[in-house]
Amino acid sequence: DKAGYKHFMAKEIAEQPSVLSNALNAYLTDDGIALPDPGIDFTKIERLTMVACGTAYYACFTAKYWFEQLAGLPVEVDVASEFRYREPPIVPGTAALFVSQSGETADTLAALRYCRDKADHIYAVVNVPDSSIARESDLALPIHAGVEIGVASTKAFTCQLNVLLLLALKAAVARGKLTPDRRDEILTGLRALPGTFNAALDRDEVIAGVARKLAEARDILFLGRGLMYPLALEGALKLKEISYIHAEAYASGELKHGPIALIDKHVPVVVMAPKDALFEKTVSNMQEVMARGGKVCLITDAEGAAAAGQDVWRVIQMPKVPDVLSPILYALPAQLLAYHTAIAKGTDVDQPRNLAKSVTVE
Ligand code: M6R
Repeated sequence: DKAGYKHFMAKEIAEQPSVLSNALNAYLTDDGIALPDPGIDFTKIERLTMVACGTAYYACFTAKYWFEQLAGLPVEVDVASEFRYREPPIVPGTAALFVSQSGETADTLAALRYCRDKADHIYAVVNVPDSSIARESDLALPIHAGVEIGVASTKAFTCQLNVLLLLALKAAVARGKLTPDRRDEILTGLRALPGTFNAALDRDEVIAGVARKLAEARDILFLGRGLMYPLALEGALKLKEISYIHAEAYASGELKHGPIALIDKHVPVVVMAPKDALFEKTVSNMQEVMARGGKVCLITDAEGAAAAGQDVWRVIQMPKVPDVLSPILYALPAQLLAYHTAIAKGTDVDQPRNLAKSVTVE
């Protein structure tokens, strides 16, 4: 049931404030973050290996920044199809964490089985609690996104990020890396996030306007730095999946190592950059793009918009959130850009060609 929306994807994007709120209620207590038993003892874990495919992999890649920056916990991330055949050594002290919306992705399941007798613990973050990946894990944490039907993952991604951030915060507290003030600041921001998301949904019209222009492009680049780099990758995946436009993402700092050769007036460049500690660096990358005629669509907050100057082609202005929460909030404009570009192109948004919702064969 599309509940009055034209597509499941539109419905699932719009549902995010309420599913995020459910997910937060499931994990947040008055005095902290509650995990189901047997819990996770982050004082005993020395490193984390995270494995997944597609959008779930980008959730893991985002979480790597969180675990490393907030908790000082080293994280290795990999796509399951590489991990399973590379057969990497798993050293003592390693916990393995698998992220999958369906819980049935063949490569992710095979990667989990590879880790079975090698990792100290096997954890899963899933949307389907009775899935194979959940059943074969020591602990499966549900993301509480509700059924996701659109092939392009939207609400599952933000709910995966939510659970992964809560885990990173747990790890940070357990490892004595987070001051109570900083913890409270992040948790307060998280509690407010469903409302912030709701407010950000009213950017829909502006984003649809940008998307109608993007729909004319043959190639689109996405750039991000730090926490915004994995999200740039996710934005490019979403766009190519449903609009069939070639989209690629790069870490902003990689631009001058090759991809800048692609830039001309026909290549729109979507830059995801809240006004954080890395913003100035990204602005200078943006200027390099604009100096070569590239059209920059900047997704940022009010401060970033004011600092970016007049030459930016389009600005999508997001509400301000604590820096660590930006990837969750900025997933929304990435999803809406892909959605409206696909609508402008007239492609099949919910059932894009050649793709299946659940990839149960390799
Ligand atoms: O069910 P899973 O989370 O394991 O699926 C992983 C990928 O197949 C999935 O995220 C895919 O990349 C989506 N179509 C992305 O929108």
